[in-house]
Amino acid sequence: MGGGYVGLVSAACFSELGHSVNLIEIDAQKVKAINLGRPPIYEKGLEEMLRAHAGRNLTATSDYKCIPDSEIILICVGTPQGPDGEADLSMIASCAKSIGIALQNCDGYHIVAVKSTVPPGTTERLVKPTVLRQSSKNINKEAKGPQNIGFVMNPEFLREGLAVQDFMDPDRIVVGSSDQNAGDLFMGVYVGLDAPVVRTSLTAAEMIKYTSNAFLATKISFSNEIGNICKRLGIDVYDVMKGVGLDHRINPYFLNAGAGFGGSCFPKDVSALIHLAQETGEEPILLKSVVDVNERQPLRIIQLLEKKAGDLAGKNVAILGLAFKNDTDDARESRAIPVIAELKKRGAQVKAYDPKANSSMEKIFPNIDYCSSADAALKDADACIVMTEWPQFGQLDKEFDLMRSRVIIEARRILSCKDAEGICW
Ligand SMILES: NC(=O)c1ccc[n+]([C@@H]2O[C@H](COP(=O)([O-])OP(=O)(O)OC[C@H]3O[C@@H](n4cnc5c(N)ncnc54)[C@H](O)[C@@H]3O)[C@@H](O)[C@H]2O)c1
Repeated sequence: MGGGYVGLVSAACFSELGHSVNLIEIDAQKVKAINLGRPPIYEKGLEEMLRAHAGRNLTATSDYKCIPDSEIILICVGTPQGPDGEADLSMIASCAKSIGIALQNCDGYHIVAVKSTVPPGTTERLVKPTVLRQSSKNINKEAKGPQNIGFVMNPEFLREGLAVQDFMDPDRIVVGSSDQNAGDLFMGVYVGLDAPVVRTSLTAAEMIKYTSNAFLATKISFSNEIGNICKRLGIDVYDVMKGVGLDHRINPYFLNAGAGFGGSCFPKDVSALIHLAQETGEEPILLKSVVDVNERQPLRIIQLLEKKAGDLAGKNVAILGLAFKNDTDDARESRAIPVIAELKKRGAQVKAYDPKANSSMEKIFPNIDYCSSADAALKDADACIVMTEWPQFGQLDKEFDLMRSRVIIEARRILSCKDAEGICW
């Protein structure tokens, strides 16, 4: 259930593993596109998989009628940030209700699995009672046999841009279950994949996902803070992190200083964990600092730009890169958003280009100038900010001569030209 980045990639990969998959998606446009083998999102390798399986062992539908015939029902809908930073679980609750209703008067054993990122306790205290109440069934610890429903929490760790690869070759598979049998049976969906398996309780599986994201976000904010100190000291933070990351206790990943983390996961998941901690009476000092560093980082770009280009009112600023990272069309919580908002506030004219995410950003800022190439964005610009580490931006150099003046700031370490200045290098 849910045909977004997680649900659609999971559906395609499960069909590639040989399962028969019904993808339930409420957006009729997405259903139509998926059934035609056209992914409504951009992910490397996804289109090939859809073309191979759509109409064969993968069917998209908006109808819940396929639920009773499904041995495993996976919930992959969104859990966005609520008004106080908490996870909004309304889509999870709605799925649980629909599943329960669909399972009324139906025999056989079903497993309801949550793949969405949800706060610890959600599967046990929201999904399970809702499904059981709506279906008028009781959970039977023997698990197999008629009238039974097992519950599983199977967090997803894929990275957008590398989602298919990460799904097919995961670092680990985490399966929390209401009972041993439910977990054992559920593991059948992953037959064919070679990865360590962590079997645990429902709540521990939920907490593993939040902890992983909070730790990765912490690494990024930590690197950014070190980068900010390095900049003042005239030290290249990338040299520093190269030396640091080779320590196997640390590893080199997520140590790239820059504009901070964005995307549909880290910001909302760290915020949900902070909210959860505070509800329990715990003050998460470190996590709050992680968010604080992350929110200040894009503003440093504006300060640097003002230092180099002066008053920004009326200036033409080119933004290269709108997606929250390269290889995706997803602009959710992209660090380009606060940068563009600040530029507009200061009266600058923004011309933007992204190889994949122009239309995603257009939904957030309909009134800036979107260009179809880097050259078009750079033409007559007074300054340029490279926001996303698309590899094709790395080679830009003479293209910057199209600008009125070569004031170039990079928010990710990507450019090879000599006169660009980095946010913290
Ligand atoms: N995007 C990622 O990189 C990623 C990685 C790991 C985990 N997650 C988690 O997975 C979950 C889904 O994330 P996403 O990025 O795929 O979200 P998304 O917003 O891209 O997709 C969710 C989809 O669910 C559909 N939907 C909503 N209610 C529905 C219903 N009742 N029945 C059927 N479809 C319904 C929506 O139309 C949408 O297409 C979230 O909890 C997220 O935190 C995301």
